[in-house]
Amino acid sequence: EKSGYPHFMLKEIFEQPNSIADCLRGRLDVKNHSIQLGGLVDVMDKLIGAKRLIIAACGTSWHAGLVGEYLFEHLSKIPVEVEYASEFRYREPLINEDDVMLVISQSGETADTLAAVREAKQRGATVLGICNVVGSTIARETDAGVYTHAGPEIGVASTKAFTAQVSVLAMMAIMIGQKKNTIDPEYAERLIEELDRIPGKVKQIVEQSDSIKRMAELFTYAPNFLYLGRTYNFPVALEGALKLKEISYIHAEGYPAAEMKHGPIALIDAMMPVVVIAATDHTNDKMISNIEEVKARKGRIISITGKENEEVIDLSEFSCPIPETEDCLSPLLTVIPLQLLSYYIAVNRGCNVDQPRNLAKSVTVE
Ligand code: F6R
Repeated sequence: EKSGYPHFMLKEIFEQPNSIADCLRGRLDVKNHSIQLGGLVDVMDKLIGAKRLIIAACGTSWHAGLVGEYLFEHLSKIPVEVEYASEFRYREPLINEDDVMLVISQSGETADTLAAVREAKQRGATVLGICNVVGSTIARETDAGVYTHAGPEIGVASTKAFTAQVSVLAMMAIMIGQKKNTIDPEYAERLIEELDRIPGKVKQIVEQSDSIKRMAELFTYAPNFLYLGRTYNFPVALEGALKLKEISYIHAEGYPAAEMKHGPIALIDAMMPVVVIAATDHTNDKMISNIEEVKARKGRIISITGKENEEVIDLSEFSCPIPETEDCLSPLLTVIPLQLLSYYIAVNRGCNVDQPRNLAKSVTVE
């Protein structure tokens, strides 16, 4: 059932060209430049009128939610708050019947997320879900929602569920933007066409896995890692660090690149690999200054950046080139090399990739 792959995680990373295509299928209408999400039809007026959106989730799904925050604010002009489901729950949340909550969960069984759903519903809010497992508790208890259709995810570390969640969030944000007229029509058309090209671009990245494998060999015994990103790729920095922690047992932290100078820069020395995700055009100059700050302290730069970004590539010890795309869709590409990097490092360290210690696929205790 691993289809010839040594681990489910690797199989699921390589499945992403197909799982993203499955997620988009029947929803993205490239010819008419429109998006249909059947599960949201009944709540569309609520979504269009929403004064704010509260996104709640845990772990990797929470990282997808952070990408969603940037997408909804940029494309649909809805103010968004992203909450850890567990924290939302215990804060006597200020939420009522005018609010819309969106929860994100691969398993649809995460206890903290389910508790947030119940809390919000009890207070009269409209609660929507993005789930992967069909018929799961969260899918059943939410008022409406969208399935990610990524197929069963067996590896404990979430990979293809994340890219499917971000794909759904992108479709939602573009669709609401079109209905609300908060998005330039030509830009919306470009985004829809580009979303359609994402599976092919993901395929190009997984086909470069050998070069990431070679790079992983050099960093297998690093005791720490820092991941830096800006805007859409700040959540990807968090996600890259989480993947490394959970399956390789290496201490890793993700930061918005500009925060580095407010503390973490003190950690940088010749032993510290710094993964820089430089894939948003309008922040590129700032990223280059951050890279120079790291290099001045002898930190080792690994960059995930556009093929044409020669300046960043030249400054890096290793670079993982990704195909060009729209800034707001770049997390769908930049996360792939980070998944592969953590996978190969974990394998080199002899870790149990599919069943990391102390972790379970779905966390059904609060
Ligand atoms: C990370 C991971 C966890 C889950 C989290 C939420 O690789 O698997 O952080 O993302 O437990 O799980 P779901 O999405 O099932 O609610």
